[in-house]
Amino acid sequence: MIKKGIILAGGKGTRMSPLTKAVNKQLLPIYDKPLIFYPLSILMLAKIRDILIIVNKGQLNQYKKIIPDGKKLGIKITYLEQDKPRGLPDAFVIGEKFIGKENVAMILGDNFFYGQNLTSKLLDNAKIKKGARVILHKVQKPELYGVAKINKKNKIISIKEKPKKYLSDLAITGLYFFDNNVIKYSKKLKPSKRGELEITDLLNQYKTKKQLSADLIGRGGAWLDTGSIEDFYKTSMFVSAIENRQGFKIACLEEIALNNKWIESKHINQSIKFYGICDYSKYLKNLINK
Ligand code: DAU
Repeated sequence: MIKKGIILAGGKGTRMSPLTKAVNKQLLPIYDKPLIFYPLSILMLAKIRDILIIVNKGQLNQYKKIIPDGKKLGIKITYLEQDKPRGLPDAFVIGEKFIGKENVAMILGDNFFYGQNLTSKLLDNAKIKKGARVILHKVQKPELYGVAKINKKNKIISIKEKPKKYLSDLAITGLYFFDNNVIKYSKKLKPSKRGELEITDLLNQYKTKKQLSADLIGRGGAWLDTGSIEDFYKTSMFVSAIENRQGFKIACLEEIALNNKWIESKHINQSIKFYGICDYSKYLKNLINK
């Protein structure tokens, strides 16, 4: 099982300025929690406890205020800074020491996943020993994403970053599982025309070696994008609709840690103290007073 995970939560968020002038995008709210809670919850659901969060240079203090370390969640959080947005594979260069000799999962800090069977899917994919695995999801506007074309056996035939010409309607989501070669392959990459290391170039190295596989999130699952202000509202509405209907919270980190048996009631009480009097704390109180 993959034990290490990276959340890439840097970027300048220029598309969302002025909101992102003072605060990093991943700390803005999706309904009742900061966006970063959602990708972090995905790694925790995959039972990954050793997590590196890569943040923009100069913004570390913002993150430490909300997630100081992983102690109250029974996980280990390491922070590293990226001095400028060099592209997604830069995460594996920055994270070389953190990854060591192990395999690693990566999730982009602005990706939101929800759906039935998601946890078992995550656990399945985290079993990967060799090669790379991407998670695909059908979308209406594939030209906005990395795109993969697959054959009938779900084998990837080709991949392209934001293709202008139609290739397929399967977007490559921002959740990836890699073997340890990812460090070596990332170091070989050269910046593309837009001046960034491209995740598709990294994935193509695995594809050439016939070591790239795919898993699909079907229509019962949701992968939502939070790239624009409009997306923030739509995703917030989605979370609000589900939470208020069911009374369960999406991405309550303490609840996941408790279910994973990583923490006990005393840790939840520490979190309640940390957050103060608010709806989130009320929800936490209910978890331990059942
Ligand atoms: O969301 C999935 C898509 O993410 C994939 O389909 C694409 O293949 C992949 O390239 C990526 O596309 P985006 O255009 O959404 O990437 P963006 O530059 O917006 O970065 C995604 C997140 O990663 C964002 O939260 C900022 C962070 N980031 C990005 C770069 C380039 C960093 O922290 N450092 C970076 O150097």
